[in-house]
Amino acid sequence: MADKGKDKEGNIVVKTEGLVKFYGKNKALNGLSMNVPERAIYGLVGPNGAGKTTTLGILSTFIRPNSGSVEIYGNDIIKEPEKIRGLIGILPQRAEFYANRTALDIMTFYSKLAGLNGKEAFENADRLLDKVGMTEHKDKKMKEMSHGMFKLMGIAQTLIGNPKIIMLDEATSGLDPKVAYNIRKLVRELKKDTTIIFSSHNLYEVEDLCDYVGIIHNGKIIAEGRTKSIVKKGKSLEKVFMEKMEE
Ligand SMILES: Nc1ncnc2c1ncn2[C@@H]1O[C@H](COP(=O)(O)OP(=O)(O)OP(=O)(O)O)[C@@H](O)[C@H]1O
Ligand SMILES: [Mg+2]
Repeated sequence: MADKGKDKEGNIVVKTEGLVKFYGKNKALNGLSMNVPERAIYGLVGPNGAGKTTTLGILSTFIRPNSGSVEIYGNDIIKEPEKIRGLIGILPQRAEFYANRTALDIMTFYSKLAGLNGKEAFENADRLLDKVGMTEHKDKKMKEMSHGMFKLMGIAQTLIGNPKIIMLDEATSGLDPKVAYNIRKLVRELKKDTTIIFSSHNLYEVEDLCDYVGIIHNGKIIAEGRTKSIVKKGKSLEKVFMEKMEE
């Protein structure tokens, strides 16, 4: 059978090997290797400064590694960055938007950049804002948004262009329980046809939401696999995480 041995979620679509990244003398990534299966929700966890944002920056082609390799759907990040940009959507940890424009304006603008014409772009913007629960706030200027509305806007923006892979860097940090719940619900829906890399400091959230977990520490993945196999019976991801930090 052709599918024999494949993960339920599919083939590995993001593969990094031995990534090294220096910022000046500071070694942010120290040989990071990770494998993300298609249509999985992959939780990226690790302490502050471990290298999560740097890793996502490299995967999204914004940051160039000093050495190591990344393949996304078989495309090499250094040789074929344009192809990769067409496959991904990213919510940066600190997303920025024009302060004086409304959510709908900005989403329409980005939809046009993605190649849609005026009416299509407007409809796409409206649909995606609705999808993330922002319809009520779509005419607010970005400077008038709460932290949660800002995050939701960022998530809506990642969905423009129907990416195959979505990377969310701390999508739920600082959100009220209902908005965080709705984001997790949306992520589960997106999983039907998208691969999601989800960084978070909320280990209970990751344990509940993510099919796979990668624990990153000092610029390396120190444990990776199905959440079920990382979190052994009777333990929590938090307990496993704490043990790993002490090894
Ligand atoms: N632009 C930069 N210039 C210099 N050093 C940086 C820069 N960005 C990150 N670093 C350093 O690289 C290391 C990894 O940082 P990174 O932001 O990737 O970690 P993180 O896991 O995302 O942390 P957090 O959980 O706090 O968001 C840290 O030592 C950090 O100080
Ligand atoms: Mg970060």
